[in-house]
Amino acid sequence: MSRKVLSVLLATAMTASLLVGCGGSAAAPAADAAPAATEEAAPAADAATEEAAPAAADEATAGKKVGVAMPTKDLQRWNQDGSNMEEQLKAAGYEVDLQYASNDVQTQVSQIENMINGGCNVLVIASIDGESLGTVLETAKAAGIPVIAYDRLIMKTDAVSYYATFDNYMVGTKQGQYIIDTLDLNNAAGPFTMEVTGGDPGDNNAKFFYNGAMDLLKPFIDEGKIVVKSGQVDFEQVATASWATENAQSRMENILSTNYADGTDLDICLCSNDSTALGVENALAANYKGKYPIITGQDCDVANVKNMIDGKQSMSIFKDTRTLAAQVVKMVGQILKGETVDVNDTTTYDNGTGVIPSFLCEPVFADINNYKEILLDSGYYTEADLQ
Ligand code: BGC
Repeated sequence: MSRKVLSVLLATAMTASLLVGCGGSAAAPAADAAPAATEEAAPAADAATEEAAPAAADEATAGKKVGVAMPTKDLQRWNQDGSNMEEQLKAAGYEVDLQYASNDVQTQVSQIENMINGGCNVLVIASIDGESLGTVLETAKAAGIPVIAYDRLIMKTDAVSYYATFDNYMVGTKQGQYIIDTLDLNNAAGPFTMEVTGGDPGDNNAKFFYNGAMDLLKPFIDEGKIVVKSGQVDFEQVATASWATENAQSRMENILSTNYADGTDLDICLCSNDSTALGVENALAANYKGKYPIITGQDCDVANVKNMIDGKQSMSIFKDTRTLAAQVVKMVGQILKGETVDVNDTTTYDNGTGVIPSFLCEPVFADINNYKEILLDSGYYTEADLQ
């Protein structure tokens, strides 16, 4: 399907999916969206009667194989993403090839090659480095295999058909807003000290998180109500290679010894995610005796939720990986059946070859006050997980 045809279809699909939201149960495109879709993209659905539809749908997906490429097992969330995807794809009748690449780009490239050679009909990829998959995805494109970028956008290749993720900019604004509300920045006199820890520069999401938070916090820095003592504010200065806890920890140790060893309190640690927050928390535990800062995070990893309960991390962003997996499984089915694919954003995510039609799920924040409701009542964790 060409990009041009896609964009016509997407405008109508967007209306339908916006009404549903992430993980909503409406599977079929809205009736008024169908004609456009059926004309160009899904002739089968056009002719199908209601009774015939399930059979046709099964035929389109039966025995199909889906390759799922995940970056690493080191971070809790990708284990959950992978197992949710596998479970839900299998439940929908697909064969699944799930691979983890130990955060090594070459390993991920060979895994994807194997998926292509092994007969996968669709590829779902959470990339390690968004810019390193162009060549291997050319092969996928030549073989007519659609690619869904999972959580992280794959850059500089037109082989990507769709993108499904959480609203990455919103992750950042929720972190920034949490800081503003908790310190009542609009009314408090300040000044407050802050240090920023960002994500991996090879991950397209990292800048979205950073920009979302900094767009809200920058005005306070400009007026002097927030002071970044290290002077490290630009994304390049605060980035954390590979999102590694150790990297975030050693940078924060340096910052603490240079800027806060004189007894100055550190009020805010804006951390883009939980693995970096953990590094910052380790550095504070070993090198800092002042008032404990507000610390943000993302993913609600078990270690961080435990820290939240212990008062060592203020909040985290909850991205329900079950919801994202369900959305992607739905996308896979829609692609294979030639149906209109649900998307709700066709402007934000340009991968350098054009905007990739995207489905953005909504993240929420979790803290000590609501974590039971969000994480336990929803069945995401059990009480025992958090002991
Ligand atoms: C994901 C985050 C995760 C980070 C590190 C990002 O692409 O969106 O949820 O914390 O990678 O793995």
